[in-house]
Amino acid sequence: MDDLNSDAQPAKRSLRAAPTSTVGRGKAIVLEKGPTVDVHKADGAALHFGDSLSFYSSWERPTTIVSDGAYGVLGFEGDTSDHLDVPAWYEPHVKAWSEAARPNTTLWFWNSEIGWAAAHPILEKYGWRYVNCNIWNKGVGHIAGNVNTQKIRRFPVVTEVCVQYVFEARVGGLSLKQWLLSEWKRSGLTLRRANEACGVKDAAVRKYLDQGHLWYFPPVEAMQRLSDYANEHGRPEGRPYFSLNGKTPVTGGEWEGMRSKFSCPHGVTNVWERNAVRGEERVKSDDGRAVHLNQKPLDLMSRIIEASTDVGDVIWEPFGGLFTGSLAASRLKRRAFSAETDSTYFQYGVRRFIEATRQMPLLSSVSG
Ligand SMILES: C[S@@+](CC[C@H](N)C(=O)[O-])C[C@H]1O[C@@H](n2cnc3c(N)ncnc32)[C@H](O)[C@@H]1O
Repeated sequence: MDDLNSDAQPAKRSLRAAPTSTVGRGKAIVLEKGPTVDVHKADGAALHFGDSLSFYSSWERPTTIVSDGAYGVLGFEGDTSDHLDVPAWYEPHVKAWSEAARPNTTLWFWNSEIGWAAAHPILEKYGWRYVNCNIWNKGVGHIAGNVNTQKIRRFPVVTEVCVQYVFEARVGGLSLKQWLLSEWKRSGLTLRRANEACGVKDAAVRKYLDQGHLWYFPPVEAMQRLSDYANEHGRPEGRPYFSLNGKTPVTGGEWEGMRSKFSCPHGVTNVWERNAVRGEERVKSDDGRAVHLNQKPLDLMSRIIEASTDVGDVIWEPFGGLFTGSLAASRLKRRAFSAETDSTYFQYGVRRFIEATRQMPLLSSVSG
């Protein structure tokens, strides 16, 4: 079975800028006919057929973005042929993500090590602050003794990375770190008195007003204390201090919204030992061929979504493939927005989503 909708008329594809290179390495499956629908909306997800660049402005603003796009390995049509083109490929997307992000938005950036290294400056340029590099170790089984190291002249690669970024919150053009110190100074109080404000010996100055890597985001209670103290004892003419709206000091709820959500189950580290996707989990055609080269493990997608969002939050998956991130989001009762440009992947991805969420098969005309 190669055709999911044998009676279907091709849906209109949105126009997209010419890819920086080229045609992907042969796909195992190509469906001749296009999908019958342009978007599949169900179970908290909206899965679009087309270029994510044309949908961003209509999607609700995200709490988390899961990016699994170009790797510079011709992994799909439009992927680049090496990492040098990766920054230009991502730039319009990264720009759009920054325009939609809130101060508490997290970005998970999947890639190869060199693909990520190439893209990192673009992410920084648009305000994404690096947090952590997580390494997916697929294990030695991934190469299955198939590699001639004398030929490749390097150690065999069995890893990918999933890099965590947060959107750098800014107040009046300043990073939070700069803003905290600048507000304290504006109040005319000495630095030492910040310790008094927080009821600690020297921790407030050392942590919350530090301008280097020792800086910590003050918890709500500490922020409240700094703000109350500055507004009570600071120069009267400069009040309010620590205000986001220029009228009233920041509230606990507003302050909490200035940083991304994060929770980590006990024992999880930044090295993720997990086989590449195979067996039942792998989406295959009816004659047993794997549909997508880059299908990600559902459990790893669930891990990052659960760590960085709450129930009801919005997840963007700009490069849907088989919509693994959106499926994970739907199962976790989050809301997902995703897009896929490739007609074959879109159709298989939607079918997978429907089957996994136990919907009535929309693609009931599936043949063979
Ligand atoms: C690395 S794969 C994603 C695989 C996916 N994470 C999964 O588990 O199935 C990237 C996908 O993004 C799609 N793609 C590339 N550019 C796109 C764009 N501008 N908008 C939507 N999809 C795009 C490609 O066709 C490809 O299927």
